[in-house]
Amino acid sequence: MVESRTIVVTGASRGIGRALALDLAEGGHRVFACGRSAAELPGVTYARVDVSDDDAVRAWSEEVLRADTPNLVIASAGVMHRNAPLWELADEEVARVLDVNVRGVATTARHFLPALINAGAGVLANLSSGWGRSTSPEGSIYCASKWAVEGLTQALAAELPSGVAAVAVNPGIIDTEMLRSCFGGAAGSYPTPQEWVRDATPFFLGLSAKDNGRALTV
Ligand SMILES: NC(=O)c1ccc[n+]([C@@H]2O[C@H](COP(=O)([O-])OP(=O)(O)OC[C@H]3O[C@@H](n4cnc5c(N)ncnc54)[C@H](OP(=O)(O)O)[C@@H]3O)[C@@H](O)[C@H]2O)c1
Repeated sequence: MVESRTIVVTGASRGIGRALALDLAEGGHRVFACGRSAAELPGVTYARVDVSDDDAVRAWSEEVLRADTPNLVIASAGVMHRNAPLWELADEEVARVLDVNVRGVATTARHFLPALINAGAGVLANLSSGWGRSTSPEGSIYCASKWAVEGLTQALAAELPSGVAAVAVNPGIIDTEMLRSCFGGAAGSYPTPQEWVRDATPFFLGLSAKDNGRALTV
């Protein structure tokens, strides 16, 4: 039996963020989650927040921190561009992916970490990808964004005081809207988010200060 924690999950209106937030809440944890879309997550305090909007994340973090200091912050919000070689991507697509996947992770970290540092405890888990450690054609900017998450996390880990950790997490391959946009129907041969949480929930709850700076895989 794991003691109840306070956990923040970004990118929880659908996909793996949503499944994780719901499973954690069902397990008795206090969960604060966000996404841009309206969403109903029973047992979860959900807010509509765009992680690439600094003011919005600041206001949301202040609201969460008034309630409690999180033990765990999971930065799962992410986007993919359409499958295409780099020279066919419009500047807006490049900017959108970098803005959410890199700046969004940094913004989430900037607004929640001071409370964890103040408490002397807590873990920030930044969602990376297999494509944050390898590459794929037609995914250049997504790969660049996830390699950036790995680099950001390692540098950040070296800045943190003892007791607080930052880790990069490759979640594996899960059948979500994002995967369907890359793999089409072949995404159906991968686990659903509901299947994934059976391993992922204990994995995230098992993270500790000892993991600081590690590049992990669920
Ligand atoms: N599925 C996989 O196989 C896989 C593999 C490797 C890594 N990942 C990573 O895992 C994370 C989740 O992916 P997924 O497959 O669950 O994708 P998904 O089904 O497309 O869900 C993405 C989630 O992120 C939210 N989001 C997107 N932009 C946002 C923003 N600016 N602010 C706040 N929330 C935002 C979306 O909600 P709104 O649209 O409502 O904002 C949605 O809830 C991503 O970081 C992804 O790169 C996934």
